[in-house]
Amino acid sequence: MKIRKAVIPAAGFGTRFLPATKSQPKEMLPVIDKPLIQYCVEEAVQAGIESIAVITSRGKSSMEDYFDRSPELEQFLKEKKKLDFLQEVREISKMAEFVFIRQKQALGLGHAILMAEGYVGQEPFAVLLPDDIFDCPRPCIQQLTDAFLEFKASFLVLGRVDEEGTKKYGIVKPKQVSERVFQVEDMIEKPGPEKAFSDLGILGRYVFTPEIFEAIKKTAPDKKGEIQITDAIKLILEIQPVYGYLFEGIRYDAGDKFGFLQATIELALKRPEFSQKLRKHLESLLSLTE
Ligand code: G1P
Repeated sequence: MKIRKAVIPAAGFGTRFLPATKSQPKEMLPVIDKPLIQYCVEEAVQAGIESIAVITSRGKSSMEDYFDRSPELEQFLKEKKKLDFLQEVREISKMAEFVFIRQKQALGLGHAILMAEGYVGQEPFAVLLPDDIFDCPRPCIQQLTDAFLEFKASFLVLGRVDEEGTKKYGIVKPKQVSERVFQVEDMIEKPGPEKAFSDLGILGRYVFTPEIFEAIKKTAPDKKGEIQITDAIKLILEIQPVYGYLFEGIRYDAGDKFGFLQATIELALKRPEFSQKLRKHLESLLSLTE
């Protein structure tokens, strides 16, 4: 069954990025010239997703405006004959069908995904966390949706993490099935190096069967009162196999200040209009510090 729908949880406070996120959504911070959230929307669309539900919260309505038409701006650009911008601005609202659902209380990632139950219905769906920007030969979420089609089971994207990463990500206990596919035997949320089962961390892309919603409802809140998606996936493990896919490509944690800087510089180096200029500039900065 083809995956047609995606859910993008974007309701958090963006505390790692304060003060910039005090009065604007983290997901709208621009990496070069596009807001963070647009990178994962484009990734989903490239993978064949047709409809996207964004989970939002109070103070984040600029995301809704961004993915809507903007007739006044379009008229202005038309009159000024700025046709490239006009085209680009128009394309944004046409990329997919967009639905916005409010999470009224910040009760965790699992709870945010549960908000999409009515929207998703009884079909498998993708989840993309906008903090992660993936730069991959095949869109990262498509690596998961292709694997889903083969195995007909939920998939999590996996990456190798260092000791620090065991404190930042869910970690799986893997049983290797093929070069990139691992059956998940167990998992633990941010265990730290001592309790980590492996160096395989869960990154921000998932494909779920609709059973995840019942599992989230049965999941008890953690110590902070949040319903973690990792705990809900653990319940799914009791009734269905779940797999991890070691993705091929590069990933930036752009929800973190340093990761955001890395993403900005590396993605700019790949853009033809900046590449040479930026490389030269970076080289001159480095020669000053030598
Ligand atoms: C969430 C998940 C965690 C996963 C991470 C990926 O954590 O709970 O298992 O490794 O996303 O980015 P959060 O980043 O919301 O703390």
